[in-house]
Order: sequence, then C-alpha cells, then structure tokens
Amino acid sequence: MNESSADADRLRECLELAAAARGHTSPNPMVGALVVSAAGEVVGRGYHRRCGEQHAERLALTEAGPAAAGGTLYVNMEPCCHHGRTPPCTDAVIAAGVKRVVACHVDPDSRVSGHGFELLREAGAEVSVGLLADDAAALNAGYLTVKSAGRLFVTGKAALSLDGRLATRLRQSQWITGPESRHYAHELRAEHDVVMVGVGTVLADDPRLTARLEEAAHPRLRVVIDSSLRTPAHARLFSEQDGGVVIVTTDVASGAARSALEAAGARILVAEPDSLGRVDLPDAMRKLTGLGVSTCLMEGGSGLLTSAFDAGIIDRVVLFYAPMLIGGDEALPLWGGEGTAELGSAPRLRRLQYREFGADRVIEGYLRLPPPFE
Ligand SMILES: NC(=O)c1ccc[n+]([C@@H]2O[C@H](COP(=O)([O-])OP(=O)(O)OC[C@H]3O[C@@H](n4cnc5c(N)ncnc54)[C@H](OP(=O)(O)O)[C@@H]3O)[C@@H](O)[C@H]2O)c1
Ligand SMILES: [Zn+2]
Repeated sequence: MNESSADADRLRECLELAAAARGHTSPNPMVGALVVSAAGEVVGRGYHRRCGEQHAERLALTEAGPAAAGGTLYVNMEPCCHHGRTPPCTDAVIAAGVKRVVACHVDPDSRVSGHGFELLREAGAEVSVGLLADDAAALNAGYLTVKSAGRLFVTGKAALSLDGRLATRLRQSQWITGPESRHYAHELRAEHDVVMVGVGTVLADDPRLTARLEEAAHPRLRVVIDSSLRTPAHARLFSEQDGGVVIVTTDVASGAARSALEAAGARILVAEPDSLGRVDLPDAMRKLTGLGVSTCLMEGGSGLLTSAFDAGIIDRVVLFYAPMLIGGDEALPLWGGEGTAELGSAPRLRRLQYREFGADRVIEGYLRLPPPFE
C-alpha cells in the first residue's frame, strides 16, 4: 500500500469517528482524530462529542501519551490555534512531538483559516492537506456553509408519487410513503439542527416535526415559514418539548398574533420580505444561523420548496418515491412555478445514494457542496 492510500484509509477512519457525534456538535464541526506511532500502530483515537467538550485531537493525543512522539496525527479538519471554549489543539500537537499531520481541509473559521497548519509547519511538522476533502466537506456541510456563506445548509426532503406530486389536488399527502420509510424520515430529523415547513403544511397537516426515535438525538429547532403569522397557537407543534419552535415572519405580522404565538412558546424571528411580501428565504437562512444552528431539513410543502429551489438555496435533496401515481395539474409538485427552462442548466445531483424501504425508494444527493477548503 502506498503512503497516500494508507493515509486515505486513516482519514476515512477519522471521518467515521467524527460521524459518531452527528446531530450533537453544532455549531461546532464533527471532527475525528487518530494518532499513529512512529512504528505505524494506531495508539490514540478521539472525536469531538459535543460543543464545549474536548476536541478530537486532544482526546487522541491523551490516549496516545508518549507514543505520539515522532508519530502522525490524522484529523479531518485543520487543528484549531485559538482559545475558544478549550485551549488550542496546535499547542497539544506540538507538545506531543508529532512529526506529521495529515488533514482533509482547512478550517474556514477566520481565527484558524490556515494559521493552524502554519504554526505546525513552523514547529517542524510535515503537514499534508487535501485527501478526502469532498467526503469531509459533505460530513461538515452545515458548519462549512455557515462559515463560508453565512447561511444554513439546506436539505430538501419530500415524499412523492412516481410522477413527482407531494399531495393530491385535495391536499392529501398522508401517507404517500409506507411505514418503513418513516423511521428514516425521523432519523433525518434527528441529524439536522432545524426541521422546517411552510405555514401551508402546518394548516393542512398540523405536524409535530419531532424526531420520534428510541435514541436521544433531536432537532434543535422546529421552524415555520409564515409571513403573516397564520400558525394557530393551538398547533400540535407547541405540544412537544423537543427542540424549540421558531416562526420566521415579516414585519407585516400583527402584534396580537405575535403575542399569542409567543405565549404558546414560539420564538418569532423577523426576516426581510421578498418581492411578493413573503419571507425572503435567503435572509431567513442567514438570520437563523444567529441561533447557533447550521443544518436545515426543509420538509415542504410545495410552496416553500418551490421558492427554495427558485432561490437556489437547496444544497441537497432526499426524495422518497412511493410506487403510486397521483396526476392532475392541481396536485402539488415538488418544484412548481417556472422550473428550469434549459435542460443544460437543470441542477443535477452528485454523490448519489439509493435506499430501499419496503416498496419505497429513496434517492438522495447533493446539488452543491461547500467549497473544498484546501
Ligand atoms: N409529501 C410530502 O413530503 C409533503 C411534505 C409537506 C407538506 N406536504 C403537503 O403539502 C401541502 C402544503 O403545501 P403548500 O405549498 O400548500 O404549503 P407550504 O409550502 O407548507 O407553505 C406555503 C406557505 O408558506 C408561506 N411562505 C412564506 N414565505 C414563503 C416563501 N418565500 N415561499 C413560499 N411560501 C412562503 C406562504 O404563506 P404566507 O404568505 O401566509 O406566509 C405560503 O402559502 C399540504 O397538502 C401537505 O400535506 C407534503
Ligand atoms: Zn481544537
């Protein structure tokens, strides 16, 4: 095995370690680290479990102890070099006498941004960056999108008939997909910081938007996009503890509606209006980052997804297809409005994955990844 494929294997292990904390680290990234001794043995492993807790590099170096000297540190993201909630990892790496550092990409945080690697090089370590950068960018797409673009990373999700409808003309959509699909839908909620719908879906389905799973991970926020505060204060959203409820509205909403929803437990966030006076979605996605969240599962309905596709803010899709046809011009499409005119500019998915749940099939993929920070 040559050095770079051995390095790639080690980094793959870092990414797996990091992913063990999926849904728990936000607004921090998921980071996994491995220390390999000069003799080529793995002597330390670590991953960042949640915001405020020790960084992966420190955990792996502590486990390695003196065996780290002269060895290699593998980590999916550049080690930090600033005093945050914990002291800088670069100090620990240098103190441990690590000879080589292999990482997937730079940390775009302005306090790090290549400076961590520079300090390590100045201390005499050999630093190699860029292997598996795409895989690492997919893992931390939320963190990287917030740091590079100042907005949430958005996954559009829908349950569809084979002809691409998400509700009948009578607005019926429960249930298009079968029960086997629903567990995965709840896992998706648990993996995202925000679960979002339009007010049309709240009025039609009165969803709770919680992740109903055995394990403890939950979305941090349940968000409704609602320009004039039509969300009823008795909606089932408010009957659940799990994750706060945020309603993103515009300044046309009435004070009385606002007070009633606040009394029910909602936090109200005011976004700029778009050209039609509705919530401007790019502005909403920027403002929501202020609440310490980075990934959003946008579950519909058709109106919200259509605006989000039109605004180009959907980064990834997870589409559940049931073996059923709905038909009808009045039935709700995944992406209505004008859509794409030229086939050449139709967004195409990358990093495709296919899954099967009973008779349903799920196709998921990325429309865009944050830039690889090499
Ligand atoms: N199959 C599925 O996966 C699935 C998932 C969810 C929902 N559904 C179905 O979809 C239907 C609801 O879809 P829908 O299209 O009527 O409602 P929706 O997409 O849930 O909500 C649309 C509403 O959101 C508000 N809004 C605020 N800002 C917006 C913006 N920038 N762009 C778009 N909307 C904005 C608008 O009301 P204001 O102007 O009052 O703010 C708009 O009418 C229901 O039948 C539901 O069962 C199906
Ligand atoms: Zn660190």
